[in-house]
Amino acid sequence: MNNEFYAVVGHPINHSKSPRIHSLFASQTGEPVEYTAVQAPLDDFAATVRRFFEGGGKGLNVTVPFKEQAWELAECFAARAEKAGAANTLYQNSAGQLVADNTDGYGLVRDLATNHGVQLQGARVLVLGAGGAVRGVLGPLLEQQPASLTIANRTVAKAQALAALFADEAGTATLSACGFNEPDQPFDVIINGTSASLQGDLPPLCANVIAAGTVVYDMMYSLQTTTFNQWALDNGAVRVFDGLGMLVEQAAESFRVWRGVRPETAPVIDALRND
Ligand code: ATR
Repeated sequence: MNNEFYAVVGHPINHSKSPRIHSLFASQTGEPVEYTAVQAPLDDFAATVRRFFEGGGKGLNVTVPFKEQAWELAECFAARAEKAGAANTLYQNSAGQLVADNTDGYGLVRDLATNHGVQLQGARVLVLGAGGAVRGVLGPLLEQQPASLTIANRTVAKAQALAALFADEAGTATLSACGFNEPDQPFDVIINGTSASLQGDLPPLCANVIAAGTVVYDMMYSLQTTTFNQWALDNGAVRVFDGLGMLVEQAAESFRVWRGVRPETAPVIDALRND
C-alpha cells in the first residue's frame, strides 16, 4: 500500500518529538503512515495548511504557536474541541471540510488515570495557568468529575474568564478561579499548565498546597526534573510526573482519529525516555 502523509506544523519545529512518536506508531501497527515536521512561516500558517491538504496530505498535528489559528481555520469541530479554542489535530472530512480536534486533554487524562493510576473522580484539582494549553484540557478534566477544580493564574481575570466559559461543563464539581497566592490548603492533584518555567520562573504558590499524597503533574516535559516538579519535590511531594506521557497519549489519540487504529503507548513512552 502507498504511504499516506501526515505532519506536525509549528514554528520552530526542529525539536518536535512527533515524527519519532508517529513513526514508532506506524511500525508498531503496520499502518502506511509517513510523518514529517513542517515549519510554517509565522505569517503563513493558513497557506501552509492549505498547501498540505491540496498536496494530498491526510492529517496534521499543530503545535506552538499555531493551535489557536488552527482552530479558527477549521470549518467543523470534534465535540471536545469546540470550547478548547485551540486545535492540535486537523484532517478533512468526506465533504472536504477542514475538521479541528484537540486531543491534548484526552492525553493528559489518559496519562494521569491510566498510566499513573491517578484517581480524578472526587479529587480536589488545582490547575495553574489560563492560556491556550489549559483551555485545551479543562473539558476532559471536568468530564472526570473532580470534587473541585481551581484555576489559578498570574492574571486572575483570565482564570475567571475560563471558569465562566466552562461553568456549564462543571457538573457537580466546584469550579473556581484565583491568583497563585490564594490557595493554602492541600490539593489531591496539581497540574502546571503555565509557561513560567520557559522564563526560569515558578508560580508563587504557598507550599501548603502540597501534602505527601498530592500528585503533581507538569505539562512540560524535559530530560531533567522540570523546575516546577523540583519545587514540588522540595516541598514534600512524592509523586511527580512530567508531560512526556501526555505527549505520547495525545499523539496516539490523533493517530486513532486519523487511522481508526489505537497504537500502544507504553513502549513508545519507554523508547522516548531512553532516547
Ligand atoms: P500556552 O499556549 O502555553 O498556554 P499562553 O496562552 O501564552 O501559552 O499562556 C501562558 C500561561 O502561562 C498563562 O497562564 C500565563 O499567565 P498570564 O495569563 O498571567 O500571562 C502563564 N505564565 C507565563 N509566564 C509566566 C510567569 N513568568 N509566571 C507565572 N505565569 C506565567
